[in-house]
This record gives sequence, C-alpha cells and structure tokens, in this order.
Amino acid sequence: MSCPTPSVPALDCDLCPRLVEFRLENKAKFPDFFNAPVPSFGPIEAEVLVVGLAPGLKGANCTGRPFTGDYAGDLLYPTLKTFGFATGTYGGTAEDGFELQNCRITNAVRCVPPQNKTTGAEEKACRPFLIDEMKAMTNLKAIVALGGVGHNAVIQTLGLKKSQWKFGHNMRHEMADDLPILFDSYHCSRYNTNTGRLTEEMFHDVFRSVCEELK
Ligand code: URA
Repeated sequence: MSCPTPSVPALDCDLCPRLVEFRLENKAKFPDFFNAPVPSFGPIEAEVLVVGLAPGLKGANCTGRPFTGDYAGDLLYPTLKTFGFATGTYGGTAEDGFELQNCRITNAVRCVPPQNKTTGAEEKACRPFLIDEMKAMTNLKAIVALGGVGHNAVIQTLGLKKSQWKFGHNMRHEMADDLPILFDSYHCSRYNTNTGRLTEEMFHDVFRSVCEELK
C-alpha cells in the first residue's frame, strides 16, 4: 500500500523566532551549508522510524540529511547497516549513495538549535510535522527514540502522558494495540559515547530488540 506524503516545514519556516535568528546567522557565516529545516531521510513505507533531537550545526544542518556529517551519525549509520536497515557505505555527505531500507529518520525539531539545545516551545511548534510524518507512515511498527527529547516528542505526538511513559534505555513501550512499539535509546551523541553512558554494544541491543519485534 502506498503512503501519503507528509507535510514538511517550508525552507524559510518562521515558527520559531530563536531558530530563525540562528539560521540567518549561520547563512551569513556558512553560506554553503544547507541552513534550513532538515527533511526526514528514508522510505515513507518503512516499518521503523528513528526520532532524533535536532540537526547538528556542522553536520545535518550543513549536509541537509539527518545525522549526516554529525558525530552521532558515525554510530547511527553503521549500526543501521549492521542490522540490515541500510545499504551502501556511509560517507558523511548527502551524496554518498547510502540508502535506508525499511527505516526512516527524522528529528523532533527540524532546525539546528543554538548549543544543540531545543526549547519546549520549539519542540511543540515542530510537533505537527512529526504527527503528520507518523500518520503518513502507514506501515509503521517500531519507533526508536534517541534521548529524552525524542522520547517525549513521540509520547506527546501520540497524545499520551509523559508521566505514564518514562524514558529508559532499551525499554520497550507497548502503548496500545493500534500503536507502534516504542523503543528508547540514549542519544548516540559524542557526549554520551565519550562518557560511556552509551556504548556501541548498548546501542546495538536496541536495534536487536527492534529486529525481534519485526519478526
Ligand atoms: N543530527 C541530527 O540530525 N539529529 C540529532 O539528533 C543529532 C545529530
């Protein structure tokens, strides 16, 4: 069955004044960067959706593809390949020919935030795009939320209470019969991997759980 096309923010989206100001600064400083809301990557027909936080300044905001050129992508993309969710060789650019298989990646907030930190208002303003994305993914069976912001964005997108569905690494949340299963992972950020909060093995455990779910 083919899936509808989800709505996406305009390239000059003006919903978040702080993010617009940052975008304009970055356009002046880095004119060759993408500098716009970064679109989701991967087939809309996929059964798996990975929800990140927001583009990194010199990574996804530069290349225009989620996690591409970001430190976090160096763990995420090879992991997706290991578990059969990608083909090709990840090269850190949007032109590397790397393709996602049965998996799509999006961010809770589509524009790069200053200091990698989004605000509650920005997460709320961007939520309609995540709602639409999840509605359009009519084959969706599993969601991987990276970090607490990704987790809360999914919970709120589904109209559920944050107090009832708490974040926990490699936790499996079965929220209702007609909803996809949510898996949580610590974000694969440089900070989390450098401090040992998240190891490669721990990250792989999450995708192993997802594969079990799809069987
Ligand atoms: N790059 C993204 O696109 N998303 C993240 O969450 C982190 C880096």
